[in-house]
Amino acid sequence: MVSPKEIKETSVIGAGVMGTGLAITMALKGIRVFLNDLTEDLLKVSRKHTSDLLTDLEERGTIVNAAKIQENIVFEKDLKRAVENSDIIFEAITEDPSAKRDLFAKLADMAKEDSIHASNTSVIKISEIASGLNSKDRIIGVHWMNPPYVAPLVEVTTSEWTDKEVLKTTRDFLEKVAGKKVVLSPDIPGFIVNRFHAAVTSEAIRLIDEGVSIEDVDDVWKYHLGILYGLFGPLKNADYIGLDTTYLAGMYLTQRLGREMGYVPEWLVKKIGNNELGVKTRKGFYDYGDESPSSLYAKRVQAIKEELKCKQDQK
Ligand SMILES: NC(=O)c1ccc[n+]([C@@H]2O[C@H](COP(=O)([O-])OP(=O)(O)OC[C@H]3O[C@@H](n4cnc5c(N)ncnc54)[C@H](O)[C@@H]3O)[C@@H](O)[C@H]2O)c1
Repeated sequence: MVSPKEIKETSVIGAGVMGTGLAITMALKGIRVFLNDLTEDLLKVSRKHTSDLLTDLEERGTIVNAAKIQENIVFEKDLKRAVENSDIIFEAITEDPSAKRDLFAKLADMAKEDSIHASNTSVIKISEIASGLNSKDRIIGVHWMNPPYVAPLVEVTTSEWTDKEVLKTTRDFLEKVAGKKVVLSPDIPGFIVNRFHAAVTSEAIRLIDEGVSIEDVDDVWKYHLGILYGLFGPLKNADYIGLDTTYLAGMYLTQRLGREMGYVPEWLVKKIGNNELGVKTRKGFYDYGDESPSSLYAKRVQAIKEELKCKQDQK
């Protein structure tokens, strides 16, 4: 298998929102990319969007030489020609398990034997896509965020059949060539990002049904939860709140709302029983060593203030 830094030719299948963004991502890194879709008309729309976007970014001074960057993208309707020489193929077609399986079956016959076949699925288990295909050891989940040329995170998932070399090369390519932060998700429906996305969005919609205005739902995230979760993540944030308090609040909500709002497995009950309550006892989800709670809280205040100042400066 080619080393990540030697990857010079790639493919993206599906020239919609994500596929076009992925082709631009490769092109911005100077990597040649074949972009494929079902019709010439769809490719034409993608080409126009690419050209308009790159020109706009050039005018804003974000990139230089838009025309040269776009030369890295080959818009190719013929699937075989689009994939036959590529080292890594990113699938970004419609979120339909059987359409994705059909495509990966074709790739098994058309692509180079040692090429990597990556699915950008947002929620479908990789084992569900790969099962029964004779290329299943080369199939891996690479879930880019939108827009992929700006968003720093990529979620990677292997199935039980994915070759270890495929994971290593893919991960190195994403980190060292594309410059992304990689998180590894187990092969579970929705992976990590969309489990959060689904839970948060459905709670937001429920709150509208319970009388909260649309604007207030968004303001709670813009002025509070988005700031804290963005800085610390939900688990370190729970450490600051206190795991005992978090547990009691969850139990109350579960009882009153009649649905699970505070998931507390046995190991978490044990943690709380062991006085691992978070920052206030120096151990919770994280271990804070000898640092005093007051020093940890002061650092948190500092981080929040800097974040707020940063947001203010951006206005
Ligand atoms: N839109 C997002 O923000 C986002 C973010 C992350 C991941 N994703 C995932 O990326 C994938 C694509 O989503 P999208 O939003 O770009 O969809 P989209 O509808 O904008 O684009 C899909 C494209 O795939 C093409 N297509 C369908 N079947 C094809 C085939 N067999 N061969 C070639 N092209 C084919 C369609 O013609 C269409 O142009 C999905 O799996 C989605 O879950 C989307």
